[in-house]
Amino acid sequence: MEPHILILGAPGAGKGTQSDNIVEEFGVEHVTTGDALRANKEMDISHLGLEYDTPGEYMDRGELVPDEVVNEIVDTALDEADGFVLDGYPRNLDQAETLSEMTDLDVVLYLDVDEEELVERLTGRRLDPETGDIYHVEFNMPDDEEVRQRLVQREDDTEETVRERIRVYQENTEPVIEFYEEEGDLIRIDGEQTPDEVWDDVKSAIEENA
Ligand code: AP5
Repeated sequence: MEPHILILGAPGAGKGTQSDNIVEEFGVEHVTTGDALRANKEMDISHLGLEYDTPGEYMDRGELVPDEVVNEIVDTALDEADGFVLDGYPRNLDQAETLSEMTDLDVVLYLDVDEEELVERLTGRRLDPETGDIYHVEFNMPDDEEVRQRLVQREDDTEETVRERIRVYQENTEPVIEFYEEEGDLIRIDGEQTPDEVWDDVKSAIEENA
């Protein structure tokens, strides 16, 4: 059976960057609530009687999309995957408990990065809309001029929304880190190293624990 990997970390810690490496090296599926929700930003959820009628209205404010929407997405995706790297979920303790009822985990990784570094990374992040590849205006730009020209910025990567996402993370998701730490499962990785150095640590952790 392919490994079940969970990758945790604040917004901008490098979860997407390292998940791409994990997918390539270990052949697992990338299950990411952020991408799934971005693909369904305009989905009508008005029948749920929640504060807003679409996921996008939560996301553009940096708030969490309600659990009933997100749990369903993850449950379906994990059911269809053999091995996976789960990125962006769980983001609060209720989601962590729901996840433990859905599946077992072989490896729980936590990318540890300081807050000011997170802001710099997110406001400088650029995406290739054709391939989904992640770049950064200072740390990592593509060599190909054609690719450079078509890069876009994510709508929630403005400084104001980034600060709110980090606040929401501290309030809701830091307890999730403690939850896995208390269970003795958490592997802490220094996420402030270069992307290649972080990858060396991530790869070794998976090889030793999966
Ligand atoms: P989501 O898409 O999950 O965003 P996030 O958690 O805020 O994480 P990011 O994708 O922004 O960061 P990342 O850690 O993947 O960093 P990356 O590798 O790109 O969620 C978005 C929204 O969806 C949420 O706000 C919420 O509304 C909703 N949502 C999602 N899941 C939910 C859930 N479970 N429940 C409720 N709501 C949910 O790297 C960042 C940048 O840094 C890049 O430019 C990269 O090139 C650069 N970089 C990466 N590593 C390094 C390094 N080592 N050194 C220097 N630069 C680096």
